[in-house]
Amino acid sequence: MTLSNIASAPADPILGLTEAFRHDPRPDKVNLGVGVFMNEQGATPVLECIRRAERVLWETERTKNYAPISGIPEFGVEAARLALGPDFHQLAAGRVAVTQTPGGTGALRIGAELLRQFRPGAAVWLPTPTWENHKGVFTAAGCPVKEYPYYDAATRGVEPEALCQALEHVPAGDVVLLHVCCHNPTGADPDAAAWTRMGDIAARVGWLPFFDFAYQGFGDGLAEDRSSLLTMLAKVPEALVSTSLSKNMGLYGERVGALLAITETPAAAQPVLSQIKRIIRTLYSNPPRHGAALACTVLGNPELHDLWLQELEDMRLRIAGNRQRLAAGLANRLPERDFAFIVRQKGMFSFSGLTDAQVNFLREEKGVYIVKGGRINVAGLTQGTLDYVCDAIVAAMRSS
Ligand SMILES: Cc1ncc(COP(=O)(O)O)c(C=O)c1O
Repeated sequence: MTLSNIASAPADPILGLTEAFRHDPRPDKVNLGVGVFMNEQGATPVLECIRRAERVLWETERTKNYAPISGIPEFGVEAARLALGPDFHQLAAGRVAVTQTPGGTGALRIGAELLRQFRPGAAVWLPTPTWENHKGVFTAAGCPVKEYPYYDAATRGVEPEALCQALEHVPAGDVVLLHVCCHNPTGADPDAAAWTRMGDIAARVGWLPFFDFAYQGFGDGLAEDRSSLLTMLAKVPEALVSTSLSKNMGLYGERVGALLAITETPAAAQPVLSQIKRIIRTLYSNPPRHGAALACTVLGNPELHDLWLQELEDMRLRIAGNRQRLAAGLANRLPERDFAFIVRQKGMFSFSGLTDAQVNFLREEKGVYIVKGGRINVAGLTQGTLDYVCDAIVAAMRSS
């Protein structure tokens, strides 16, 4: 092998779309592809709580020395508290090994490395469909990947019976990846009763849940969004949880996330943490400290914390409002069709049901960029683009 004969890798489907959008000269183009929050001006802003935390850090930070391998200790406490709730110390009583990670992706990959080494041969079951990077992350770590049926196109939601039946048949010892809330790409989450059943099944059958918690606060609120996780954790002896502050604190490029390994006994937590640290040491040695320091500053300061809660709520409400407006805009144009599913779905994404041909039509004819499979980033809509996008979607639906 020489470097000069390495062939190009395929472009990342979502980031490649952003690239294509950037090069599109049409003035009325609209990017509803990439999964980042956008405000009414179409920007992905730095939250005010983060700007103020930057100022605090500027005044108080005395060193850029390496963070410990498992990250800034206070960050670990705050990340666990955020994911598991304020009572997490009682809830888990020493059973949580927390590690700061470079975003949710970093947490998933480290979890995958741990699984491959300590559950060799165990398959990781992913929902169909799922975030397009899941398969790559687990496969790259050497974990066999399988799929379980998740989204029901007929009801545009999750059918608890079919989901639970599928999870009954996952072999003991395998791993099941579950989106805690705001399922990417469908926006369809199981209901509370289904989560209870899934917890019973996991406990009885003996598969390990790996929770991906990337959108906490974007569904029904911080506490509401963790209720599914807590329901299952009350039933299963062990679990992995990947969390991310990319979306809910707008810290995307700072790479802030955490891996929580919840063990059956407190005695098991320390060895697991030591193995996770060994994995990290050979991957990137230790995590970037700045983003986590910002998050700690916000979470540990009552004033900044309150400001963050308000800003997060504003983001959540903007997305919910956009869902209402998109559903109404389409229903006005096509009254014979039911678009209520757009309002029912949670988080940034709506699985529109548009075919790949219609997605291509939208991009090529109208300059409206959405992800193959029909995922629309609802947060990308503005009052200025809503009518144009609704007209374009209707035209796409009529085109084939
Ligand atoms: C379901 C899901 N998991 C994980 C991630 C990764 O998040 P991060 O950007 O923090 O690595 C994303 C990001 O889009 C996601 O949608």
